[in-house]
Amino acid sequence: MSQQSSSMWGGRFSEATDAFVAAFTASVNFDKRLYRHDIMGSIAHATMLAKVGVLTPAERDLIVNGLTQIQTEIEAGTFEWRVDLEDVHMNIEHRLTDRIGIAGKKLHTGRSRNDQVATDVRLYLRDEIDAIRAELKRLLVGLVELAEKEHDTIMPGFTHLQTAQPVTFGHHLLAWFENLKRDDERLVDLRKRVNRMPLGSAALAGTTYPIDRAYTAELLGFDAVCENSLDAVSDRDFAIEFCAASALIMMHLSRFSEELVLWASAQFQFVNLPDRFCTGSSIMPQKKNPDVPELVRGKSGRVFGHLMSLLTLMKGQPLAYNKDNQEDKEPLFDAIDTVMGSLRAFADMVPAIEPKRDNMREAARRGFATATDLADYLVKKGVAFRDAHEIVGKAVGYGVQTGKDLAQMSLDELRQFSDTISNDVFDVLTLEGSVNARNHIGGTAPAQVKAACARARQRIDAI
Ligand code: ARG
Repeated sequence: MSQQSSSMWGGRFSEATDAFVAAFTASVNFDKRLYRHDIMGSIAHATMLAKVGVLTPAERDLIVNGLTQIQTEIEAGTFEWRVDLEDVHMNIEHRLTDRIGIAGKKLHTGRSRNDQVATDVRLYLRDEIDAIRAELKRLLVGLVELAEKEHDTIMPGFTHLQTAQPVTFGHHLLAWFENLKRDDERLVDLRKRVNRMPLGSAALAGTTYPIDRAYTAELLGFDAVCENSLDAVSDRDFAIEFCAASALIMMHLSRFSEELVLWASAQFQFVNLPDRFCTGSSIMPQKKNPDVPELVRGKSGRVFGHLMSLLTLMKGQPLAYNKDNQEDKEPLFDAIDTVMGSLRAFADMVPAIEPKRDNMREAARRGFATATDLADYLVKKGVAFRDAHEIVGKAVGYGVQTGKDLAQMSLDELRQFSDTISNDVFDVLTLEGSVNARNHIGGTAPAQVKAACARARQRIDAI
């Protein structure tokens, strides 16, 4: 049996850890990305220990300087990460003792890796949430700016992917704005629960030293300390919540992607995506593939998977910390990377979307998009809605047979279906008439879209 030599718990053991087991249980290859937050947490912990008299000021200074230099080594790429030291925490602590001697061995006083790792992940995730929100905000701004430009651009609105009623492209863009804005609100809300400090919980029960948790929390910018030590070392709800919010973001982006893919197709031709967001085919010279939205649509799957991984990871775990929890990191990190990359790609791409306004308009005209307007016209002249529905249905049937849309029919042709129809019908059968008539908050009228854009800008400013 091959064995590793150094370990942090050698005292109780009569043989060293099996080399494969050491590698199997190690997390340093993926948790080293927590190094900055691990050092930040350790500096705050040492500062607090000195404040309460557990460390001398001289020891504190040695620790703080040592850790700062280790951060420099890591960032310079000269730090040697050792798998036999298991994780980011023990790698850094070991190096600290190498550098400063006995004071380094005092850093872990009143602390356990259980509260340390929970603190590191929260500190790390807090920063990542802020960075993700910055990308999301850029995307929201892009959507509002495009919606302002396209506030009166007419396109078909769809239900069942069949032409339903005319809408403005600006209105459609603001629908995307709304669902992504809710995603931002979710991030704001869950960040409050991320931003609580486990440190001080130690292994599970707290510690016998006279620690000042509120002080450490203040140094680290936490809103509060976690109230219960058993909960604090074992809770991973915050990571699950983040993955749930990320799954929703990806679900929304996948829908947005799907529409862009459809709209960029030769069959729709509603938009052009600039070449820099597309790729070609190695065999078909004519191809220009909308890779960015396709890939984002595909990447939604991995984030949904990470949410399920974390739920399953936590299911049935007894209190308090269990080694299972080491498995929280890879799904969480990949969810962060995926949502960040996807939002960034969309924030870059949205301002570059080129609408093909003539094609959008033509598609709205062809699909009997103003049929509901004709029915509403009849109702306003005293026809019951169900009868109006029937009358318009017949007129559409006639249009399908003759290849005419409603606005192309003569008054006589229309009057075959109802003699209530008179010349003013053509005002409601136009696309402009249709969208302008939906003139209330939340409606598609260009004037409403403009007003909604102004409100959206204020809401972005409040972010
Ligand atoms: N690498 C571990 C993790 O990610 C750190 C905590 C280990 N604690 C322990 N008692 N083995 O969860």
